[in-house]
Amino acid sequence: MIIKNLFAREILDSRGYPTIEVDIKLCNGIIGRASVPSGASTGKLEALELRDEDQKRYFGKGVLNAINAVNNIIAKEIIGIEITDQSLIDYTLITLDGTKNKSKLGANAILAVSLASAKAAATNLSIPLYRYLGGTCAKVMPVPLINVINGGLHADNKLDFQEFMILPIGAKTFNEALRMSAEVFHSLRDIIKKKNYNANVGDEGGFAPDIEKSEEALNLIIMAIESVGYSTLNDFKLGLDIAASTFYKNKVYKFENRELTSDELSQYYCDLVAKYPIISIEDPISEEDYNGWKLLTAKLGDKVQLVGDDLFVTNCELISRGIKEKMANAVLIKPNQIGTLTETFNAIKMAHMNGYKAIISHRSGETEDTTISHIAVASNCGQIKAGSLSRSERLVKYNELIRIESLLGKSAQYEFY
Ligand code: PGA
Ligand code: ZN
Repeated sequence: MIIKNLFAREILDSRGYPTIEVDIKLCNGIIGRASVPSGASTGKLEALELRDEDQKRYFGKGVLNAINAVNNIIAKEIIGIEITDQSLIDYTLITLDGTKNKSKLGANAILAVSLASAKAAATNLSIPLYRYLGGTCAKVMPVPLINVINGGLHADNKLDFQEFMILPIGAKTFNEALRMSAEVFHSLRDIIKKKNYNANVGDEGGFAPDIEKSEEALNLIIMAIESVGYSTLNDFKLGLDIAASTFYKNKVYKFENRELTSDELSQYYCDLVAKYPIISIEDPISEEDYNGWKLLTAKLGDKVQLVGDDLFVTNCELISRGIKEKMANAVLIKPNQIGTLTETFNAIKMAHMNGYKAIISHRSGETEDTTISHIAVASNCGQIKAGSLSRSERLVKYNELIRIESLLGKSAQYEFY
């Protein structure tokens, strides 16, 4: 079916800032709709999110230029293309932009078109998006990395580490994983309140208690896990997103009243991993500190999942360099860091072909769009990070996975590996 028309509009994301939504209409009237998220602790080499300069609207955060790019530049080239030709659509967008970081049209404009195309194609074939993208092999339900305590740039507390996550590795199904995690989430709220801390939530829906020490956050989470009868042996493991680039300056990591070199920081992680059931650490080292990454990967890479987010920004060139230089052993996949669906899948493929794990991820500023849930199942990558168990822009991703699991029926697989 041929693309008849496209239309972009400005909507608001979960932080109340503008973002772009695109409708793609096919000749038979079917519409595919997608919207794009926005990060706060962004990697320096991410594709460019085009924002308006006009300070009178949304303090300069409007996306009217990106919308203009879709309605007046992209539309002319995309109309008339067969909707199932996703790579032609994506390469048309990439060539039309012509820059390395998609700064001409904006990665936000480009991604919205790319995702809306896939959605229109799936709807036109009357199949779910995960099936359209992943074919008959798509069946692995991802283990969710659920961010139950927020810090860093995502919360107004003093925690320097950005995300404290629980991984329900012992569940038999995704559905059960979510139930177990929700029980822990609610018990964590009670524990936080009993200690007279504030139980308000941060940008990704995790609690943002006014504590300073990461070890206190880890202790609270373990108490919550155990208080509802689960163990950190078989049921839950812990994950962190340090977002270390946010506190790295002049070759020193400044956090929790410490000033550590990357050498000392690596030793700190080894001690933390020896003490706590941590199996995944994202951005433990700054995106600029390649030697620190190599050192930590040599020290901890065979014990713990070391995830490159700011380090790789879903970019095959950077992932390939990381693989050659033995940095990290997993890649965080955020479609808006790179800008098209085709490049997103290329990044996942490169990770998998080189023995790196891939974890599909949301952004801290999100919308109601559920494409990442479908990408996670389509790619059989086995892990997704979509925030906590409050705030609907987070739950919508997990709820979509519940639907996908029931559609997959007996063929669904849930296992941490
Ligand atoms: P961001 O944070 O969306 O604010 O960049 C998410 C992350 O660092 O994983
Ligand atoms: Zn991150």
